[in-house]
Amino acid sequence: MPTSDKLIIFDTTLRDGEQAPGIALSPDDKVAIAHQLARLKVDVIEAGFAASSPGDHLAVSRIAREVEGPVIASLARTHPDDIDAAADALQAADRKRIHVFISTSQIHREEMLRMSEDDVLNAITESVARARRYADDVEFSPQDATRTHPDFVIESCRRAVAAGATTINIPDTVGYAIPSDFVALMSRVYDEVRGGNEDVIISTHCHNDLGLAVANSLSAIQAGARQIEGAINGLGERAGNTSTEEIIMAVKTRQDYFGVEVGADTTEIFDTSRLVSRLTGYPIQYNKAIVGRNAFAHESGIHQHGVLRNRETYEIMDPESIGHASAIVLGKHSGRAAFADALEKMDIQLEDDDFKTAFDRFKELADRKGEISEEGIRAIVTEKTSVAPDLAELVGIHVSGGNREVPVATVTLRRNGDIIESSSDGDGMVNAAFAALREVFDVPAILLDYRVSPLTSGADAMAEVNVIIQVGPETYSGRGVSTDVVEGSARAFTAALNKAAVDRRAVTPEGAE
Ligand code: KIV
Ligand code: ZN
Repeated sequence: MPTSDKLIIFDTTLRDGEQAPGIALSPDDKVAIAHQLARLKVDVIEAGFAASSPGDHLAVSRIAREVEGPVIASLARTHPDDIDAAADALQAADRKRIHVFISTSQIHREEMLRMSEDDVLNAITESVARARRYADDVEFSPQDATRTHPDFVIESCRRAVAAGATTINIPDTVGYAIPSDFVALMSRVYDEVRGGNEDVIISTHCHNDLGLAVANSLSAIQAGARQIEGAINGLGERAGNTSTEEIIMAVKTRQDYFGVEVGADTTEIFDTSRLVSRLTGYPIQYNKAIVGRNAFAHESGIHQHGVLRNRETYEIMDPESIGHASAIVLGKHSGRAAFADALEKMDIQLEDDDFKTAFDRFKELADRKGEISEEGIRAIVTEKTSVAPDLAELVGIHVSGGNREVPVATVTLRRNGDIIESSSDGDGMVNAAFAALREVFDVPAILLDYRVSPLTSGADAMAEVNVIIQVGPETYSGRGVSTDVVEGSARAFTAALNKAAVDRRAVTPEGAE
């Protein structure tokens, strides 16, 4: 067993989490999530895969420059260009890690890589050694390890350690492992790869195809793993990854069993989960462990009675320990000072322009709704930073018709001080509003995803709308908050269209269409 009892939390929300279908985070969104992960005090943030796109490169380099605290990592294939791109993007980080991976299973080698075992071993040696020239901290992952012959997993990992890898991560890429089996594999890796070498950390990265990602990850601790990789809310490819917050709380709550320490500030879990959900547009399942809205709700009379007498009758965790209990509520009479005070308590800093825009929006919504909770305030702030003058701002929407008549939406926008109006009909109110907006932007946007999530309950509930649109090969996300679903939808669509318009301007040479 290892001498260290510290469990390293490696969060890959911004890399593997972002690979979930339909998620399109902008570099600004990624930086905001990375700051929140730093407040959560995870040990490592995998900020992206620098070589995969200019957007990812930009996000990794901004996070490396702007986010303090955790080690910042970038993923890289064994290709020299990937490793150089990761090193380049990570330059400004105080502490950086290059995470090199290559598939080792027969099916991946033969069908995807067309490489023999020897080719793979040589690629590992060369790439890990190259990464070590840029960083002292290098992680190696044999992709699809759980469907690789264990002897070849061991041989690959030994090669990586010989070339300088300091963390060996065993991915259950397709969520195939079963806890007892996984312990056997992880124990072999621990004994035969790490052995007595205290400089090497054994890690795991599990996918959730059989719903076992967290169970497998936790089982690895008993085999000696001292790093677990996960994503907030369990985001990720297909059924997702190990959920970071479930690992943190399992290890804290059952410290008696696992005997390892985590450095995370659990009181930041709730905010982190909500921020990730809001920016990705992925709702959180109501009964999701730790962060679901029912995770601390008691419905049956017997349970309610017990909890009123003593919370611990039916709760193994205190909701406050994950930052769940919030008393911040502002009303329509709250002024600038109260709004600023609430933001400060919520640890949100806004530049003057953004503060003014968020405050005006808050007043507008509070007038309609009366009271706005912490969650509503967060939604307003993330929906709306100030709109640059050359972007279009939605200032009004009116829909006539409905029921049996064809609805007609008229949208009013302001751009560069000019007021622009556009009307269109559609096969529903939201559809009509989108059609009117498409005409203003003249962008061939296809709506890929559209979600409405209630932020508060009741007939005058505030809702948050998330959209993802596709323009050519690129996707853009947008968010809108309102007490009115059509208006919230139009705001979200406008936000996404603005992003697309900025991008198109950046790639269209002057004078060209
Ligand atoms: O699931 C996986 O195998 C991965 C690796 C790149 C670590 O995400
Ligand atoms: Zn993965």
